[in-house]
Amino acid sequence: MKTVLFPALDPVLNGGIPEGDQILVSGPPGSGKTILAMQFIHEGVKNGENGVFFTLDSEKSYLIDQMKGAGIDAKKLIEEGKIDIIELNPTDIYVLLDDISRHVQRLGAKRMVLDSLSILYVYCGSYRNLPEDLIEFLGKTDYPPPIGMGTAVKKQMLYTVMSMIRKLGVTTLLISELSKDSRWFSRDTVSEFACDGIILLDYNVLGATVTRTLSTVKMRRSKYREGVHEFKITEKGIELQLSP
Ligand SMILES: Nc1ncnc2c1ncn2[C@@H]1O[C@H](COP(=O)(O)OP(=O)(O)OP(=O)(O)O)[C@@H](O)[C@H]1O
Ligand SMILES: [Mg+2]
Repeated sequence: MKTVLFPALDPVLNGGIPEGDQILVSGPPGSGKTILAMQFIHEGVKNGENGVFFTLDSEKSYLIDQMKGAGIDAKKLIEEGKIDIIELNPTDIYVLLDDISRHVQRLGAKRMVLDSLSILYVYCGSYRNLPEDLIEFLGKTDYPPPIGMGTAVKKQMLYTVMSMIRKLGVTTLLISELSKDSRWFSRDTVSEFACDGIILLDYNVLGATVTRTLSTVKMRRSKYREGVHEFKITEKGIELQLSP
């Protein structure tokens, strides 16, 4: 089995992420999800692998600035054709899926990030143009038309979108937003079962001290180091401080 390397997390992942896997990166606001995902793309470039960062809630110029803070010259890498940052429109699922596959193919990307799956889930309830296998699913049930779509259908929709992205064969980080102390790993409560692995980011505030933590909750095809590990965010991105 081939893996894509992720040096920043190597002590925890023991050799990287299995190629083609979909990994959920979950955490509350400000926990470091976007920075970790940018690092993943950057480390690919260092290894000769192109990458594409899809955003649903941010702007390209904003993300280029944010990457600068983590020591990444995104502007240069984009000009060199090694990475790209693409703003996706979540309102039309056909356009969105087409954009993802077009840009992955254009760059010959081996890595991609979708920031975030949670936003896509929010929009799932509003889609009129449904993917064929979802139309088939809807056809087999007594569900009402997609207006006011029920939670079960929204979940099925998200599952379908994830399997379509999986078919691209690109190793993917799916960003998942959580409220603090949620018992789930995603807002949709289905992606944690559909994905191949979960990296959970969190932080605790005690007095004036903020302690950031990372733990691997699931990794279907690799042996990971268990435990909750502290990390810091520096000008190099995320730096792990391993617990014994
Ligand atoms: N260069 C840096 N040095 C130290 N801390 C930083 C640096 N860059 C960002 N941070 C801190 O990292 C935090 C996490 O940033 P990030 O945008 O990755 O979080 P996130 O989990 O994606 O949040 P959201 O859910 O709001 O998108 C920021 O709020 C900021 O406090
Ligand atoms: Mg973010």
